[in-house]
Amino acid sequence: ERTPVAIVGAGPAGLMLSHLLSRAGVDSVAIDLRTRAEIEATHRAGILEHVSVRLLVDEGVSDRVLREGDEHEGIALRFGGRSHRLDFRELAGSSVWLYPQTEVFVDLADARRRDGGDVRFGVRDVQVDVTGERPLLRFTDADGTPVHLTADLLVGADGSRSVCRHLVPEADRRRYTREYPFAWFGILCQAPRSHDELVYTRSERGFALISSRTETLQRMYFQCDPATDPHAWSDDRIWAELQARVAGEDSFTLREGPITERAVLPFRSFVQEPLHHGRLALAGDAGHTVPPTGAKGLNLALQDVRVLAEVVPDVLRRDDPSLLAHYSQRALQRVWRAQHFSYWMTSMLHNAPDGSPFDDRRALGELTGLTRSAAGSCYLAEGYTGWPS
Ligand code: DHB
Repeated sequence: ERTPVAIVGAGPAGLMLSHLLSRAGVDSVAIDLRTRAEIEATHRAGILEHVSVRLLVDEGVSDRVLREGDEHEGIALRFGGRSHRLDFRELAGSSVWLYPQTEVFVDLADARRRDGGDVRFGVRDVQVDVTGERPLLRFTDADGTPVHLTADLLVGADGSRSVCRHLVPEADRRRYTREYPFAWFGILCQAPRSHDELVYTRSERGFALISSRTETLQRMYFQCDPATDPHAWSDDRIWAELQARVAGEDSFTLREGPITERAVLPFRSFVQEPLHHGRLALAGDAGHTVPPTGAKGLNLALQDVRVLAEVVPDVLRRDDPSLLAHYSQRALQRVWRAQHFSYWMTSMLHNAPDGSPFDDRRALGELTGLTRSAAGSCYLAEGYTGWPS
């Protein structure tokens, strides 16, 4: 079998690419080791930038985000025991949408099915070879059929534990990494909302984020040691820790309820450059990972494939994979902006276990300066709601 574009990974990046290519008249095959049900059971971040919402709606994926998502026109930054609201509408003329990544995945998978896209979930024995004239992809279909695909272009959209990124020889790539001495403890709980907007908190006990999923289901996170076993924590202990982190002179308290899911989330900054090699391109987390503060991961992945889908038709028409350099250059500009933004939000709101009292006071000074400066607040609001595409 032959296909113009083989896509490894059918998460949001792979599916959006497949969708956009099909609108440009380019066929593709997307595969994923996970079943659709497994991907749907994965909890990820929940914030969509304005440009991401526009992409989903304007490119005909779905307008469900507009009907079922929640538009947020600001956030609360909480430090020194008080909340400081940032008004995105006023500061940046923009907003974000709370719409979980799982729903974005469902919309994309449904759209591909509706449009007759070739997406194969639950495949096994994937082998990728990019050493020959054309990329080769071998796998066993979910029904047991062995498949042998030759492609003009292979796209690695296979997430933060990407196999495809390792297909680029060491001499032809650079890797930039930053590790953090903390992780996030994430929970889902059955409780009413504690606040109508997201609350990003810095406290002496560390970071906490109060987010939401529905009227009755809430998402919260707090900074923890990366070695934490989430199941060693009782519900009472989790609530006590969260309450202690958001406590303050205004007596803000969280509305508690049964905790239905818990996990410790990895934390890392990573970029592999360039995002292409021969007939291989990397998109989304496969090429770059950000720490979760600010929820840039999914948004970056969608912008990657928006640019990639513009470049691919030319690459195929001229049979010139060197044109992928345009994709890499354009995508990396946004990637590095978001790398800085995610790193900055993270370092401003977390406390390093080896940090000094000076670091703590300095961060409070930074937050005070930021919330009292129109320019500083604007910078955060622009980064959070997303730069124009
Ligand atoms: C969520 C996650 C984030 O990392 C963030 O910055 C905001 C919201 C969430 O899961 O709701």
